[in-house]
Amino acid sequence: MNATINLEKHFPVLLKELVSIISPLYGGTFIDCTFGAGGYSKKILENKTNNIIAIDRDNSVNSIATKFKSKYKERFEFYNIKFSEIDQIQKDNIKAIIFDLGYSLNQISDLNRGLSFKSKGKLDMRMGLNDFSCDEVISKMSQQSLFKIFKYFGDEKYAKPISKKIVQLRENKKIETENLVQIIEEIKKKKSGKNKSTKIFQALRIFVNKEITELINGLIKAYNILPIGGVMAVVTFHSIEDKIVKFFFKEYSEIKNASRYLPKNISSKKYFNLINKKPIIPCRTEVKFNPPSRSAKLRFAYKLENGCDFKKFLKYFDYLKEIENLNFDA
Ligand SMILES: C[S@@+](CC[C@H](N)C(=O)[O-])C[C@H]1O[C@@H](n2cnc3c(N)ncnc32)[C@H](O)[C@@H]1O
Repeated sequence: MNATINLEKHFPVLLKELVSIISPLYGGTFIDCTFGAGGYSKKILENKTNNIIAIDRDNSVNSIATKFKSKYKERFEFYNIKFSEIDQIQKDNIKAIIFDLGYSLNQISDLNRGLSFKSKGKLDMRMGLNDFSCDEVISKMSQQSLFKIFKYFGDEKYAKPISKKIVQLRENKKIETENLVQIIEEIKKKKSGKNKSTKIFQALRIFVNKEITELINGLIKAYNILPIGGVMAVVTFHSIEDKIVKFFFKEYSEIKNASRYLPKNISSKKYFNLINKKPIIPCRTEVKFNPPSRSAKLRFAYKLENGCDFKKFLKYFDYLKEIENLNFDA
């Protein structure tokens, strides 16, 4: 993809808050799982004792990574991989692993990528390293599968009529971005609010980019490569992501007793030290300066123990992974 990267337009969210969490650990390697425009990496590299390993699935950020490489030399490495493949990275002295989920402003505002309902033409929505585009989803998936995607990933009340209309219309014509927006607007015409397409577009982006599977596998693999004492910090942008991250940290930071007849605290371990139960959110000034930051939530935890199997976590979100694994014949 050949997006033009506009560094000036991008403001890293919750940057001050993130730095205050990780700075006590400065002096070592930090993994930035979502390099994007490099806002977090740049700030961390200001401290000369820090190194960055950056990851991004979008190869349009290669040009930014090349500039970082020439400036920071051996203190900076970039991998164009998905963060679910983070276990490919072998490094000692990792201090923190950071995720800033979702899309950069550069990606959303590049209308050729079709991530936004403001785009025109072919429905694409690929972030990079994908198996298929949104065009294939809209033109091939069954009505039942489209319904599930819209309902579970978009929490869309009108999932049924919208999925029915898509299947009906595609018999005669190719559905492009503007047609999809029109379908949604016609079905939701009585609903107030400006962006009637937001939920359907979110659902399709999640499905095309397998965001749920990426997040679940990314979190588990990050835990596996992080040494004890290291920190995991995750910024989420929508409620499904936040639900997953909240469960991941909370479930394994409390001591659970298998039976109420057992003496307390003997049946299982604590794998994380969770300092804040509530997420950190942007202050009013940040939201005013950068309105898209309003939905951001930052959660973090320190790793206490190795050996967590995450069975309950995997089982709890299996229903979402199943929807992401729906195939084109279902
Ligand atoms: C919100 S932006 C990150 C912005 C960055 N923190 C900054 O300050 O510039 C999210 C980035 O993560 C990347 N990304 C999203 N999901 C990913 C995944 N599963 N693996 C690797 N990169 C991913 C996107 O391509 C995008 O560039």
